[in-house]
Amino acid sequence: MCGIFGYLGSNQQAGSLILDGLKTLEYRGYDSWGVAIKKNDGSLYIEKHIGKIGSASLPSFPAHVGIGHTRWATHGGVRNENAHPHTDCTKKIAIVHNGIVENFETIKSDLNKKGHTFKSETDSEVIAHLIEEIYKTEPNKVKVMQKLRSHITGLNAVITFFPEDESFYIIKNGSPIVIGEGDNEFYIASDASAIIPHTKKVYFLEDNEMVELSKKGVSLFDTKGVHQNITYTTLTYAAESTEKGSFDHFMLKEISEQPKILRNIGETQKTEIKKAADEISSSYGTYLIGCGTASYACLAGTYLFSKIAHRHVNFAIGSEFSYLLDFLKENSLVFALSQSGETIDIISSVKKAKEKKAQLLSLTNSQGSSLYRMSDHNLLLHAGPEKAVASTKAYTAKISFLYLIAHQLAGTFEKGKINLLKAVDEISQIIQNKSSIQSLAAKMKDYKSIFILGRGVSYAAALESALKIKEVSYIHAEGFAAGELKHGVIALIEKGTPVILFNPEDETYEDTLSAAHEVSARGAHVIGVSSKNDKVYDTFIEVKNCGNATIIPNVVIAQLLGYFLALAKGLDPDKPRNLAKSVTVK
Ligand code: AGP
Ligand code: GLU
Repeated sequence: MCGIFGYLGSNQQAGSLILDGLKTLEYRGYDSWGVAIKKNDGSLYIEKHIGKIGSASLPSFPAHVGIGHTRWATHGGVRNENAHPHTDCTKKIAIVHNGIVENFETIKSDLNKKGHTFKSETDSEVIAHLIEEIYKTEPNKVKVMQKLRSHITGLNAVITFFPEDESFYIIKNGSPIVIGEGDNEFYIASDASAIIPHTKKVYFLEDNEMVELSKKGVSLFDTKGVHQNITYTTLTYAAESTEKGSFDHFMLKEISEQPKILRNIGETQKTEIKKAADEISSSYGTYLIGCGTASYACLAGTYLFSKIAHRHVNFAIGSEFSYLLDFLKENSLVFALSQSGETIDIISSVKKAKEKKAQLLSLTNSQGSSLYRMSDHNLLLHAGPEKAVASTKAYTAKISFLYLIAHQLAGTFEKGKINLLKAVDEISQIIQNKSSIQSLAAKMKDYKSIFILGRGVSYAAALESALKIKEVSYIHAEGFAAGELKHGVIALIEKGTPVILFNPEDETYEDTLSAAHEVSARGAHVIGVSSKNDKVYDTFIEVKNCGNATIIPNVVIAQLLGYFLALAKGLDPDKPRNLAKSVTVK
């Protein structure tokens, strides 16, 4: 959601450098893009477009400073004029913005009265004009930015570019911003992955800090505007390939990477898993939180902890946790799961939990992310960069961690590892034989609705599977607890309705089989996913029993089904409409 990339240095191809930086951030999701670049002749070059950058290039002119933005619209339609950067009336100030200026209407009407003319419908443009207005009476730009900050409400990151003296002022509250320092050159980005090809020396801005960046160097100011020493972090991870290699899509590449990633977790993460288990053991209540796919991993975690470790953990959706945390105590443990480590709904809930002095354990895929930095204890997923918007490998990595933590708590880590490795072998087989799922997708592509049922941990799998299918194929898919069928859902079943049943040979087997009969009797097309075939299934997909780890191959089936359904419908599975990879605005 929104990508920002800025450059100041001696490279005279700032335009293409900035465009390449924006492309690195494309996976975050966006609907339009734009750049503001100061040409070496002193003029400001602005270009904005709706849609994707694709193979676009900028006219070639020498330039060494500028800023670019990929917009995920919140206020104002997807139109060229609404794309960032936005300028003030004098065109001496250009801004890019991530977030929502919640009080923009009041500010806008006030500025209108003062004679400002607006060119867009966005909340963001008010920032440029407000800076212009404050600057009329306050020549010190650091103070201008402080005043700006006190005027706008909401969670925002703002980069202000003054082309005249080639300076940038960065303020942020909530949304992530990182700066990088190279050899006499500086980078600004919303994600370290865009900076790492250039330099590993980075600084992640904390909320309410401010950075001034100019030819003179970098200055950091605290919340009160007092100058601070900047301490850079040296990133330890390498710039990973952003190429799809031999794969047609990132989604398929990432699905195919799962066996290697999960095996690696089982074989190398025992020490980290033990630390997390110790935190859970010594806490007064553990609360698992996550959004979207991560929330379904959390829900699966509650079943795994109960079944394997006989331990109750609570679960809440990240955006709801804010309203559920009044009971937190000092030794409560919030265990937050997030691939990106930047999801705003998690960050804002966790901030409130920290105010109540709860401990924070995080499981993220991104070292240095906001959640990572806020946490008292960190676990890293080690899944490698996930570029496809639909999460696949990060989900199964999360499940693998939760599964092994549960076994560690039960004192049966080695048993858990054996089952996890069985699940790894099973998903390798499924991926190898993916053409059978491709054939199934070809038959299912015109369905209007797909229902997915399961009990116990397979209920959590059903929810994640439905999300995967709807995200990339736009087919309405719903996951239900199989036991809920008679409480309402069965009304939706008619002749030919496709119903996928996750039916592992565990304590849910017989009851889920009954559900298969109930929907079959009403004409459903029943797709059984199980280690054991039954005549009630119209289509059978075999998944060998891997104990409680069977959830992993079951969800991989749905990942592949979603992927092939998207292809069968002529859609791009990597960039589903309306979705962003990193949800940094509320
Ligand atoms: C996954 O397929 C989704 N696009 C989405 O639900 C995602 O899992 C969610 O936004 C949470 O992201 P996070 O793991 O980066 O916090
Ligand atoms: N609210 C702003 C807009 O709609 C910024 C959106 C973003 O973060 O990309 O333009």
